[in-house]
Order: sequence, then C-alpha cells, then structure tokens
Amino acid sequence: MKLVKAIIKPFKVPEVKDALAEVGIEGMTVIDVKGFGRQKGHNSVYRGEYAIEFMPKVMLEIAVPDTEVKLVVDTIIKHARTGNIGDGKIFIVPIEEAIRIRSGETGDEVLYEPEALAR
Ligand SMILES: Nc1ncnc2c1ncn2[C@@H]1O[C@H](COP(=O)(O)OP(=O)(O)OP(=O)(O)O)[C@@H](O)[C@H]1O
Ligand SMILES: [Mg+2]
Repeated sequence: MKLVKAIIKPFKVPEVKDALAEVGIEGMTVIDVKGFGRQKGHNSVYRGEYAIEFMPKVMLEIAVPDTEVKLVVDTIIKHARTGNIGDGKIFIVPIEEAIRIRSGETGDEVLYEPEALAR
C-alpha cells in the first residue's frame, strides 16, 4: 500500500476529484495547505527579490494498493497540470498498515471492496 500525497492548485480540486472517482478511487482526504516551491511564492520573473510567500494549495491524500499507484498518479497529472509554475508535486509514501475501524479489516481490503480488487 502507498499513500499518494498530491499538492495541487485549489481550483483544480473538483476536476481531479471527479477524475479519481471515475477511475474507481473509493476514498481520499483533502487538506487545505500552504507552501512554496522553487519560486518561493512569486512569479518566476521576480523570484529572489522578495521575502518567501506561502501559496494556498490543496493536498490530496489517497491510500491505494501498489497496483493502483500508476493509475492514480497519471490521473492526477492529467487533470492537475496547467503547464504553469506552481502546478504542484506528488509524493508517494509507503503505508505500513491500514485498518477499517468498524470491522477491524486490514490491508488492501480497507481500500477497496474485494470484488473491485479483482478487476
Ligand atoms: N520539497 C518540497 N517539500 C514539500 N512540499 C513541497 C516541496 N516542493 C513543493 N512543495 C509543495 O508543493 C507546492 C507547489 O510546488 P511547485 O509546484 O511550485 O513546485 P516547483 O518545484 O516550484 O515546481 P514549478 O517550477 O513547476 O513551480 C508548494 O506550494 C508546496 O506546498
Ligand atoms: Mg513553483
């Protein structure tokens, strides 16, 4: 299992969310965040001239079986990309365990219904 953490432009969230739902993602967490990348919160023309600014971004966290990582990453890139600076980044982190609190289930079953996993 991997946790895909995607930091994207806020206005892209509805499109990315819908696209991920369409490819069968059954859960995600959305967090309002602030951050900076290479341009330190400035238009690239002016970088280096001013103090660092935090830019509002949204971080999507999606736990997926290893076999679904590429699909999820490709879907995020396809729908979050504008080609301009600040489009964001994706970090992929290993998950040691997942547990559904209601049932006590663990592992990939927590992420998908067993029938969905067989697809
Ligand atoms: N090294 C990093 N560690 C953690 N978060 C980061 C890192 N780099 C970028 N981010 C997060 O991603 C957001 C978007 O980064 P951004 O897309 O501007 O990266 P970049 O490297 O400057 O690429 P680009 O040149 O395309 O803008 C930042 O606001 C920040 O929240
Ligand atoms: Mg940047």
